[in-house]
Amino acid sequence: MIIAGNFKANHTRSSALSYCQELDLFLQNKKEEVYIFPPNASLPYGDFSCLNIGAQNAYLTENGAFTGEIGLEQLQELKIKTIMIGHSERRAIFAESNDLCRAKFDFFAQKEMKIFFCVGENLAVRQEGKVGEFLQDQLAGIELSYSHLIIAYEPIWAIGTGVSAGLEEIGQTCEILKNLGCARVVYGGSVNANNAGEIMDLEGIDGVLVGGACLDLENFCQIIKEGEKSEMRKRSFIKQAVLGEKK
Ligand code: PGA
Repeated sequence: MIIAGNFKANHTRSSALSYCQELDLFLQNKKEEVYIFPPNASLPYGDFSCLNIGAQNAYLTENGAFTGEIGLEQLQELKIKTIMIGHSERRAIFAESNDLCRAKFDFFAQKEMKIFFCVGENLAVRQEGKVGEFLQDQLAGIELSYSHLIIAYEPIWAIGTGVSAGLEEIGQTCEILKNLGCARVVYGGSVNANNAGEIMDLEGIDGVLVGGACLDLENFCQIIKEGEKSEMRKRSFIKQAVLGEKK
């Protein structure tokens, strides 16, 4: 399972570092693929043995005159190999268009970075029944077969609201994404330790992207444990299905 935590503009340099060090220890001998996205000013330097660190945003440049941004050179110095592109807060608050997100994807994919590409509709789109077309637009021009790509489905109406999308809605939307050719899909939007297990149990969901509930390390570790349990349930389900076929 993929379990990712997005700090947004929370945690300082020192609190992010101690969080990541403790989390890395917790992850020893665990199989989960875990990511933390701290604010750029709090990106920790160095190697962690299990934990992956990602940037919430960067500009599509090696370096240069792009005030307020960071580029590939700064990420590489910190050994950051993962980037998030198109989070709905970047799209809504910082006016990042589909074209810009696509250009960022092309640039960072060419550099072989792992990419969490975020998509998700607002409530009006969902109520009009246009989720499929909307997601297709957001993904137009994105090379979905790129092997280091993880699609984060985050319906805007479920982010930071405390109300996650329903299991049926997540399942159906995940199916749309898989039909479009998305290989790995995680869900984000009010995920917490109570709902993470049932969300990860859904067929086709490969993990979760957690905002508010990852800020506290104990909470986040609980969600990782839910990921482990869900993985085991999925494995035993597949095993039983195979055994059933053999009979
Ligand atoms: P939330 O945020 O878990 O606080 O809803 C998720 C996200 O924005 O990635």
